Amino acid sequence: ELVVAHPQDLAGRHVVVSAGGTREPLDPVRYLGNRSSGRQGYALARAARARGARVTLVAANVTLPAPAGVAVVAVETTAELREQVRAAARTADVVVMAAAVADFRPVVAASHKIKKRADGLIEPIVLEVNPDILAELAAQRLVPGQVVVGFAAETGDESADVVEHGRAKARRKGADLLAVNAVGGGLGFGAVDNAVTILDGRGEVVGKCAGTKDQVAHAVWDAVGPLLRR
Ligand code: CTP
Ligand code: CA
Repeated sequence: ELVVAHPQDLAGRHVVVSAGGTREPLDPVRYLGNRSSGRQGYALARAARARGARVTLVAANVTLPAPAGVAVVAVETTAELREQVRAAARTADVVVMAAAVADFRPVVAASHKIKKRADGLIEPIVLEVNPDILAELAAQRLVPGQVVVGFAAETGDESADVVEHGRAKARRKGADLLAVNAVGGGLGFGAVDNAVTILDGRGEVVGKCAGTKDQVAHAVWDAVGPLLRR
């Protein structure tokens, strides 16, 4: 077995990582969800553990095995994710929001399975916007000096490239760091390799990593290290 020595720069720190994708129930058997596998969040948790941290991993609908030495809290909905992340964040030096949070949820979840109607039509499903967990954590700082980190999967389009979209989002969110992941063309969402640009809260580039999710995870912790309160 190859043993790689990692810097113990997170020794004595408590870090909270969210992973996976939240699901919002439509009825007892259906949900509104997304395709996040949880792999990047799990890699972040493993890397933090390897660097000496105590790690709480809040996992939304992830089927991966729990990383050794990491406390996993399983959740389903955005409301549950928010509650568990905020509870763990009360003692955290760092919170990393790697989960894909459902942006919207049905205003009502039917208590019985929605049935097809004889006329072949369906009632419209009315959605409301979920709270922005990352922006709240960044604005409130549950612990003074807590480092707050977000992840964003972006595609370029005719109006702006991946990093430009990320820069606008970094400024909007108020987090200390935003890891911007280029998706599309075989990158991101379950693919093996990632291309990530790490921005600070002003949208300036403070790191870059193209590689495996483990390499990306270590690049994120490399960028967090200098921001930790002494
Ligand atoms: N996030 C969050 N709560 C939400 C939505 C997103 O905490 N309700 C977090 C994600 O965990 C991630 C970061 O915000 O760390 C960026 O998520 P993203 O979906 O890219 O940002 P949005 O603000 O939802 O913008 P978009 O319209 O591009 O989806
Ligand atoms: Ca979103």
